[in-house]
Amino acid sequence: MAEDHPGTAAVATGNKYEIIGSDVPEETLFNGDLLVASLSESPRRVNSVYYYDDTGSLLFERLCAEKTYYLFRTERDILAECAKTIAGITGSAFLVELGSGNAEKTTLLIEAYARSHGLTSYAAVDINRSILERAAENILSVSPDLNFLGVVGTYQTGLAEVKNLAGPKLLICLGSTIGNMHDDELDNLLLSARSSLTHGDYFLVGIDLDKETKMLEAAYNNQTAILANLCVLQHLNWRFGADFQIFQFRHVSIHNKQLCRMESYLESTIDQVINIKKLQFSFRLERGELILTEIMKKTEICEFSNMLSRYGFRRVQHWTDLQKGYALMLFRLVYS
Ligand SMILES: C[S@@+](CC[C@H](N)C(=O)[O-])C[C@H]1O[C@@H](n2cnc3c(N)ncnc32)[C@H](O)[C@@H]1O
Repeated sequence: MAEDHPGTAAVATGNKYEIIGSDVPEETLFNGDLLVASLSESPRRVNSVYYYDDTGSLLFERLCAEKTYYLFRTERDILAECAKTIAGITGSAFLVELGSGNAEKTTLLIEAYARSHGLTSYAAVDINRSILERAAENILSVSPDLNFLGVVGTYQTGLAEVKNLAGPKLLICLGSTIGNMHDDELDNLLLSARSSLTHGDYFLVGIDLDKETKMLEAAYNNQTAILANLCVLQHLNWRFGADFQIFQFRHVSIHNKQLCRMESYLESTIDQVINIKKLQFSFRLERGELILTEIMKKTEICEFSNMLSRYGFRRVQHWTDLQKGYALMLFRLVYS
C-alpha cells in the first residue's frame, strides 16, 4: 500500500476499507518536547506509546501468543462466552474500538452483532497504521461486507472522529490497555469518551485483576516482552535520531504491590551519555539507572467501577474467567 503524507491522508484500498489520519501525530503524543520532559523526570520515563511502531506492533502480536502472557487468551475466552449477551443488551450499535491492535478478539463481537442485528459498522482507532491494516484483514475475514473505518491517531483524535457518528454506540477498549495509562492519561481518556458519546451509549472495557506476583512477573518477563521493551529504544533512535545502544540496557519488569501494578523499565548497564540529535537534547545515565517504559495496572472490579461512575459510566454487567483473574466490564453512560 502506498504511504501517504503525514497530516493529510486518507487511504482507501478498493471499497473494502478506509484508513484515515496521520501516521505521525506529532502535535500530540510523538512530541519531542513531551519526550524531553518525561526523560528529565525522576525516575526518567518515556510514554508507552513508543512501544507501538511497526516492529512493536508485530512484537505485541507475538507476545499475545506467549504461554505466560495469559491476558490475551483469557480475555478471548471470556468474550467467546459473553459476546452474544453483550449484543443482546446493547441492541444494534456502531462499534468503536480504542487501541484496537489487530482486532483479533473483536471478530468475536462483530460476529455476535452480525448474527443478532445484521451488518454492523465498526471503527478502529490505533496509533499504528500497519496494525490497522491487519485489523481490517481480520475483521473483513469474518464479515466481508462490513464497512471498516480505521483511524490512525491517539485515543483523543479517534474519539473526536466518533463524535460525528450518528446512532447508538458501543465503545470498546480491550487488552487491559486502560491499565497502561497514568492517572492523567486515564482522566483525559474518560473525559473525551464522555464528551464523544451520548446518553445511553455503552462502554466495554477489559481489565486485568490483581493477582500473585509469580504469574504477573512471568507474563512480562518472557523473551518477547524483553525484546519489545528494548525495541522502544530503537523506536526513539529512528524517530528522533537518538543514539541508544540496545546492548547497553537490560529489561526489568517488577510487581509493585503497593501501587498494584507491574512496571517495566530499561536499566542502563553502564555510565553513559545519550544524545537525541533531532531534539538537541543530551542526558547522562548512571550504571543501574532505570527508565520507566510502561505501567500495567492491576485493579479490582469495585474500585474500577467506582472510578468510572465518577465520569458518568454506570456498571451494567461484568464477566470474568473461572479464576477471577480478568474481567470484561460493560458500562452505560448516564447523564445525571
Ligand atoms: C496493549 S495493546 C492492545 C491491543 C488490542 N486491543 C488487544 O487487546 O489485543 C494497545 C494498543 O493500543 C495502541 N495504542 C497505544 N497507545 C495509544 C494511544 N495513545 N492512542 C491510540 N492507540 C494507542 C497500540 O498501538 C496497541 O495496538
